[in-house]
Amino acid sequence: MGSSGGGCCQCCFSFIFTVGLTALFMWLSLRTSKPSCSIQYFYLPALNKTLNDTGNRTLYVSLSLKNGNKDKGIYYDNVNLNFSLPNTSKPVGNASIPKFYQGHKKRALKKVDLGSDKLNWTAVSGSVYPNGSTYFRVDLETKVRFKIIFWRTKRHKLKVGADVEVNASGTKVNKKDVKLSAADHQLASYSGQLWVLLNFLVFILLNPW
Ligand SMILES: *[C@@H]1O[C@H](CO)[C@@H](O)[C@H](O)[C@H]1NC(C)=O
Ligand SMILES: *[C@@H]1O[C@H](CO)[C@@H](O)[C@H](O)[C@H]1NC(C)=O
Ligand SMILES: *[C@@H]1O[C@H](CO)[C@@H](O)[C@H](O)[C@H]1NC(C)=O
Ligand SMILES: *[C@@H]1O[C@H](CO)[C@@H](O)[C@H](O)[C@H]1NC(C)=O
Ligand SMILES: *[C@@H]1O[C@H](CO)[C@@H](O)[C@H](O)[C@H]1NC(C)=O
Ligand SMILES: *[C@@H]1O[C@H](CO)[C@@H](O)[C@H](O)[C@H]1NC(C)=O
Ligand SMILES: *[C@@H]1O[C@H](CO)[C@@H](O)[C@H](O)[C@H]1NC(C)=O
Ligand SMILES: *[C@@H]1O[C@H](CO)[C@@H](O)[C@H](O)[C@H]1NC(C)=O
Ligand SMILES: *[C@@H]1O[C@H](CO)[C@@H](O)[C@H](O)[C@H]1NC(C)=O
Repeated sequence: MGSSGGGCCQCCFSFIFTVGLTALFMWLSLRTSKPSCSIQYFYLPALNKTLNDTGNRTLYVSLSLKNGNKDKGIYYDNVNLNFSLPNTSKPVGNASIPKFYQGHKKRALKKVDLGSDKLNWTAVSGSVYPNGSTYFRVDLETKVRFKIIFWRTKRHKLKVGADVEVNASGTKVNKKDVKLSAADHQLASYSGQLWVLLNFLVFILLNPW
């Protein structure tokens, strides 16, 4: 009697264990990470003092968008960019990258040119310090869907930004790529995922089959 009860309990335990392990593996393989975005190139010839000519007022920017997921593609909606001066709310320039698809472990280099129709030169030239330096705030906003095998997830909001220091050469001071980051959203979404996993495990362990 007793031994058969123990066998049942053991079987029950191994069942729960298997289900828990399956849930963990499912979570690990369905988990997605958002693309990482950075500014690789940033040049405004009109701010290049050596050029001694402020006629070329186009801002040239190259954006690097990286899909770090091992086996998930990413569908980007239109990627919207705002360029502003520090402590001002109204952008001095904006641009948009048309929607596109990116395979797993791929990096996309997107070039945007902001001509005089897209960049307010009056505002930009007024923000330059006597030493030729100036600061830009770059904000990026889009929505992404992940492709998992043949299924697309719902849209996830991606909102990141960075401050870019530009010197008297008209280029960004930082030689490395400037990473665009979310002030606090990243951590929140990560702890959110952990919370879901925990709930899932507790639900499975407490469920009396
Ligand atoms: C700035 O202008 C000088 C003179 O034309 C040029 O040699 C230099 O490459 C320019 N700087 C950049 C970052 O393109
Ligand atoms: C800059 O350009 C102005 C007029 O175009 C010229 O008078 C001046 O000598 C130039 N300065 C340098 C350092 O080349
Ligand atoms: C402005 O500068 C860029 C980068 O140096 C150059 O490719 C472009 O031809 C210039 N445009 C004009 C109108 O001079
Ligand atoms: C922007 O505001 C912060 C504090 O609100 C201040 O420390 C900083 O100097 C300001 N920057 C500029 C360029 O005015
Ligand atoms: C983008 O810039 C253009 C030209 O300055 C302006 O008309 C438009 O309203 C801006 N769009 C946004 C979303 O700020
Ligand atoms: C450009 O910036 C100046 C100074 O900030 C502002 O007065 C003007 O209205 C802006 N122009 C546009 C088209 O936004
Ligand atoms: C230029 O001046 C600004 C404001 O005083 C400062 O933040 C910046 O570091 C200076 N840049 C250089 C290259 O000295
Ligand atoms: C750009 O600025 C416009 C107007 O201020 C705003 O509606 C939009 O959400 C901003 N977009 C980004 C990417 O910050
Ligand atoms: C501006 O920054 C770039 C990249 O760090 C550097 O190569 C260049 O010499 C700097 N120009 C000035 C005038 O400091």
